[in-house]
Amino acid sequence: MHKNMFPRDFAWGAATSAYQIEGGWQVDGKGPSIWDTFCHEKGRVFGDQNGDVACNSYELWEKDLECIQQLGLTHYRLSFSWARLLPDGTTQHVNQKGVQYYNKVIDDLLTSNVSPVVTLYHFDLPQALQDQGGWKSPGIASLFDNYAQFCFQTFGDRVKLWITINEPQVCAKLGHEDGIHAPGLKEKGTAAYLVGHNMLRAHAMAWHSYNSRYRSEQKGAVSIALNSDWYEPLNQGCPEDIAATERDLAFTLGWFAWPVFVTGDYPEIMRSAIDAQSRKLGYNAASRLPSFSKDESAILGTADFFALNYYTSRKVKPRGGCEKMLCIKGDQDTEEVLDSSWPISGLSWLAVVPDGLRKLLKYIKDTFNNPAIYITENGFSQVGPLQIEDAQRCVYYKDTISEVAKAIQEDGVNVRGYFAWSLMDNFEWADGFSVRFGLFHVDFSDLKQSRTLYQSGREYAKIISKSRSGQSK
Ligand code: GAL
Repeated sequence: MHKNMFPRDFAWGAATSAYQIEGGWQVDGKGPSIWDTFCHEKGRVFGDQNGDVACNSYELWEKDLECIQQLGLTHYRLSFSWARLLPDGTTQHVNQKGVQYYNKVIDDLLTSNVSPVVTLYHFDLPQALQDQGGWKSPGIASLFDNYAQFCFQTFGDRVKLWITINEPQVCAKLGHEDGIHAPGLKEKGTAAYLVGHNMLRAHAMAWHSYNSRYRSEQKGAVSIALNSDWYEPLNQGCPEDIAATERDLAFTLGWFAWPVFVTGDYPEIMRSAIDAQSRKLGYNAASRLPSFSKDESAILGTADFFALNYYTSRKVKPRGGCEKMLCIKGDQDTEEVLDSSWPISGLSWLAVVPDGLRKLLKYIKDTFNNPAIYITENGFSQVGPLQIEDAQRCVYYKDTISEVAKAIQEDGVNVRGYFAWSLMDNFEWADGFSVRFGLFHVDFSDLKQSRTLYQSGREYAKIISKSRSGQSK
């Protein structure tokens, strides 16, 4: 990698999330979250594992800090546990121990010259709010806004980059349609669209609160982290494959990016596909995709940068309209396949396609008006026998980061930062601890949860130091 490939103030980071690392699930006044509940039910998670202890970062934060320093990160992306700060989800009751914990994390980071990037919501809704309908209930938007304002007020003097919600598409679909994430609902064809809608409303309210009350003093920036694979037609010249690819992009990235960055409404392709499928299956009620009121369409422009989580790519063709039940899969009507030239990581869904990221970045530049982009997650998993010398992951990071450099240098994409997922092995949702995404290995069998640098962590540290040392002029 050449020295001056990245801008001087490029953010080099790694990411984690509260439920995946903190543990301390019921200490010091923390309330339960939907992931606590979900994991404690039998059969939900690989080996019935849970995040009760995880990396125990609630107790062992200093060890995480050492890892961060060892990598030479300039930024660290963490998430707040809503239920640790506000045990019943409302600002009626603030848990001061939770405030103290995050104050210490933030202050320690700043003392170490590392900028905190904070996600307010990374999959872990307070259970008390789920009991009132969770993300399906319209009232959740103002409850989220209250929580966000509490955080801006309490921590915003020091936190300058905020993510409201991580991967609303994943929360909506995996949590409310597929039932494989908390809260484990399988209400096909309707609930996910409602959840996505309320997440957009919640994000917009929080962004407006920041904009009108905190921005002038705190001078930070707020966005929402959107996940997307890169999709391309199975046969480049086939109009049906091209149309299917556009549907995949619309149902994944466009679902949230279009309302936030372009029109204040959902992509037309998405609404027409959903409504056509409703008609076909004799569903005559109002559109299953909710509409924004005029006021809510002011959602337009409610992000200060584009936050992208990218892992992999797919080739796309139509599925053939064979679905007989209302569901997202049927609405989308696409089939995704892997190219035989793409190596697979430990996980079957994670094909290694570094140049897919470059193409996706260019697509975002062209489609969403050349925004500043932070890649808020990107990473590679290890499954099976532990390999500290993880050569494959080294290649993944090297190749992917060099595609980011090309996007900046050759395609003129305004990429401002890159965050590896993840700082350390952690609780990988429904896969429990069987899947390892860390730059540090964590020994979960040992009470000390010792952290050991993987070879890929060493390589990432080298990339960072090389890029930064080239920028002294
Ligand atoms: C993302 C998620 C992370 C992490 C990662 C790896 O969808 O935001 O929490 O689990 O996937 O699968």
